[in-house]
Amino acid sequence: MRIGILTGGGDCPGLNAVLRAVVRRADKYGFHVTGIRDGWKGLLEPDTYHLDAEAVSGILHLGGTILGTSRTNPFAKPENEKKLLENIKLLDLEVIMGVGGDDTLGVLNKLSGHGIKTIGIPKTIDNDLMGTDFTFGFYTAVDRVTAAIDNLHSTSEAHHRVMVVEIMGRHAGWITAFGGLAGGADLILVPEKKFKIEEVCESIKRRFAKGRKFFIIAASEGAKPDESEALITKTTKRDAFGNVMLGGIGEMLAEKIEEKTGFETRHVVLGHLQRGGSPSAYDRILGTRYGIKAADLVHEGKFGRMVALHGTEIVDIPLSEGVMAGGEKQYKLLDMAYMELAETFFA
Ligand code: F6P
Repeated sequence: MRIGILTGGGDCPGLNAVLRAVVRRADKYGFHVTGIRDGWKGLLEPDTYHLDAEAVSGILHLGGTILGTSRTNPFAKPENEKKLLENIKLLDLEVIMGVGGDDTLGVLNKLSGHGIKTIGIPKTIDNDLMGTDFTFGFYTAVDRVTAAIDNLHSTSEAHHRVMVVEIMGRHAGWITAFGGLAGGADLILVPEKKFKIEEVCESIKRRFAKGRKFFIIAASEGAKPDESEALITKTTKRDAFGNVMLGGIGEMLAEKIEEKTGFETRHVVLGHLQRGGSPSAYDRILGTRYGIKAADLVHEGKFGRMVALHGTEIVDIPLSEGVMAGGEKQYKLLDMAYMELAETFFA
């Protein structure tokens, strides 16, 4: 079997653990693995190399992806569809394995519709993919947020300041809720629940009145005030899949809070620090388990499938279930039970 593998979309700690596991398991089955550089771009303008055991040696602990990645959407131009299918033939690839989020898996799903043998491996720090309990990279991002909030405690306490921490997660508040819970944030704002700026200010005043003269807000980049339908952005730029680039909620909130409460307020945008660097032990293991399962699926001749974590088990589900529900693109939103839990600790 000749497998072509690519990593697409935003990078994510644990991608290299997946690649290593796929290649090492594939080796055992006698499969040939071709690494496709920079996501779908490397299939549109063929850029590939042989991924053997040597190529994946010493990468388990590394962040990023040795293959490189991009947000290239091969279906953005109709003529590219034909090119993509031709190149798969030309490169003699019998299976296309995609490690990615909703956009990459969505493309894979379309390729399945064209009769290509596909396997999907779910990846995103946002943990918003349907069909799987957790994606690798998520807990590493949560660790980064937790460490940042830990560090912000001393400076915001010393200055008696309000600190707004802007956290990634476009559609879902998983990273914000988990990072906020683990870091002991005094308020958590997520896209799943609109907030009222007045209530945010009241909560801050209550805590200060109790003598706790600092306040940390974990705010998801996709969180919205109740008067606004639109996401808060500083730019109108979109990527090839139509995703708008978020950012600005931290700054906006900090300004309003200082104006309405009179308390000195600062904001911090954690940004890509949440995605960079070495994966946590949990994500190395989850990525390894996903990679092994993906190679096993090829061995079993099961295609059009996505590997997934259900409870503690690694299973496989139809690829379409990872990205769609009822024929529409869907995201796995935050389980609001975590917010209820967090509210116990709010002022
Ligand atoms: O989807 C993962 C993610 O990290 C989001 O949390 C964030 O909004 C987005 O990617 C950032 O994208 P980019 O890397 O293109 O700036």
